[in-house]
Amino acid sequence: MIVVTGATGSVGRALVALLPRDEVLAVVRRPADLDCPHAPGDFERPESIAAHLSPGDRLFLNSSLWPGVADAHRAVIDLAREAGVAQVVTVSVRHARPGGRLGQDPHGRIDEHLRASGLPHAILRPGGFMQNLLTEVRDGRFHGSYGAARVNYVDIRDVAGAAAALLTRPIGPSATYPLTGPEAFTHDEIAAAITAATGRPVAYADLPVPAMTAHLTAQGMPEDVAAQLAVMMREMETEDWASATTAVEDLTGRPPRSLADFLADHAHAFDA
Ligand SMILES: NC(=O)c1ccc[n+]([C@@H]2O[C@H](COP(=O)([O-])OP(=O)(O)OC[C@H]3O[C@@H](n4cnc5c(N)ncnc54)[C@H](OP(=O)(O)O)[C@@H]3O)[C@@H](O)[C@H]2O)c1
Repeated sequence: MIVVTGATGSVGRALVALLPRDEVLAVVRRPADLDCPHAPGDFERPESIAAHLSPGDRLFLNSSLWPGVADAHRAVIDLAREAGVAQVVTVSVRHARPGGRLGQDPHGRIDEHLRASGLPHAILRPGGFMQNLLTEVRDGRFHGSYGAARVNYVDIRDVAGAAAALLTRPIGPSATYPLTGPEAFTHDEIAAAITAATGRPVAYADLPVPAMTAHLTAQGMPEDVAAQLAVMMREMETEDWASATTAVEDLTGRPPRSLADFLADHAHAFDA
């Protein structure tokens, strides 16, 4: 059985759509509109996830960024090993490391724990999701502190495709896969691409870090998170968020979707 956590989320939904229906069990924390078998389980009670694990199962370990995520995922890894799980595939983030910014820290700690567990595993480390752009563009504008940094975004469908390949093919050596799209763009270039795809003018507004922090806080983000996110955007000018890897194509046999592919499929979904 392929046990999928986070199945109601962006990556999880795209993943279960790619897996053989009779081999999947999604574990969900509340009633879900999923077109595959599912059962209740909540990371806040790791044993409620582990209750669905049997010897030889393959586990997709994934939720979101919440305060207890590192402890919960590490507990589920330990319980998965006790249950005789054959493989864990998890979604991390590019440049994950303990002590890193925002999600990089918990993902880094989870990844270290998984590597030390002795369980066969695959760690997927995507850059930012192209789908984020759908919610960031409002009234013909989106904001950031990226400056002139070139940033490589990846399509969630390719993250799911990589996970599906790893969960369905014979289990290979454990490895970490940085997942990217085929190319990187500045945010001015991304705005121009959205404008061309939607036929409506979209502009990118680059803000100094304090102004971006205030912008995110005004949208309801806690101030400490907003400040870290704005700094992380600015750091993309010096940390490598631009380079492309071959991991998506290596795993799925198809080149990763380009920004143009994503925009062609989602032009209708941008806020008018
Ligand atoms: N967004 C990006 O650009 C980006 C880039 C790189 C990496 N990532 C990483 O990608 C991963 C997946 O992201 P995503 O966009 O698919 O997340 P998402 O859409 O927010 O989905 C999160 C999923 O986890 C479930 N979940 C959350 N807390 C849970 C709990 N306590 N118990 C059980 N299930 C729980 C949610 O269930 P409910 O439906 O019940 O809430 C949902 O199914 C995250 O770890 C994120 O850090 C994101």
